[in-house]
Amino acid sequence: MLATMESTVPTHVGFIMDGNGRWAKKRGLPRAAGHIEGLKSLKRVIVSCRDHHIPFITLYVFSTENWKRSQQEVGYLMHLLACKLPGEINFFTQEHVRIRVRGDVAGLPEAVRKAIGETEEATKAETGITCCLAINYGGQDEIVRAANKAIASGRRSLSAEDIQGNLDLCDVPPVDMIVRSAGEHRLSNFLLWDSAYAELASYEKLWPDWGEREVEQLCEDYRGRTRKFGGLKG
Ligand code: IPE
Ligand code: IPE
Ligand code: MG
Repeated sequence: MLATMESTVPTHVGFIMDGNGRWAKKRGLPRAAGHIEGLKSLKRVIVSCRDHHIPFITLYVFSTENWKRSQQEVGYLMHLLACKLPGEINFFTQEHVRIRVRGDVAGLPEAVRKAIGETEEATKAETGITCCLAINYGGQDEIVRAANKAIASGRRSLSAEDIQGNLDLCDVPPVDMIVRSAGEHRLSNFLLWDSAYAELASYEKLWPDWGEREVEQLCEDYRGRTRKFGGLKG
């Protein structure tokens, strides 16, 4: 069932997609199989968020710390990005999904940078939902890069607005809710600036098993939260 009270739907939800490796291990499959399955759930979740009228989502795809994984796994993830981003352009446009990327794109292999550019360009007119992909993304790295951009533009002492205005996608509103799969309760360097007043939720289900029901659940849980932003509930 779709949310009926649009005003209580979050404007922006961040997803820490975790558990691909565990999903594969439980089935005696290589970790790569978990990542492939995780792509399918990612598509289900995007469509379901759009159907629930959530205007912005950010999906944590690859962290600045994920380079610590084996060369084989990192190579496979980069290969998936280089192939699947342009490979899914038809899906994105048919489903009216605009793709935007957040993170240190300059630190990615050339083939991935090219795939990102093509996909952002091909989907830039889509208005069904804006799906931000956090790739080579770290919350600390984003804040440091924002601070350096502000300094490079001539600022000598920085305000919160200077940082905010120089974040990667500074026109995207802050996250209202951050959800994590696979039962973990940590941010792992995700959206550190934006999470100042985000509601947090963790769900046991492994990421490859996510779909419409989990989106319905998170919307219901969000409706049950009281947001006060440091003030008192009126
Ligand atoms: C999330 O699943 C995908 C990425 C971080 C790229 P994991 O690969 O972290 O899965 P687990 O935590 O090993 O189960
Ligand atoms: C967080 O998952 C990063 C992404 C989902 C891309 P990790 O599996 O890398 O996080 P930790 O290492 O368990 O904190
Ligand atoms: Mg993990």
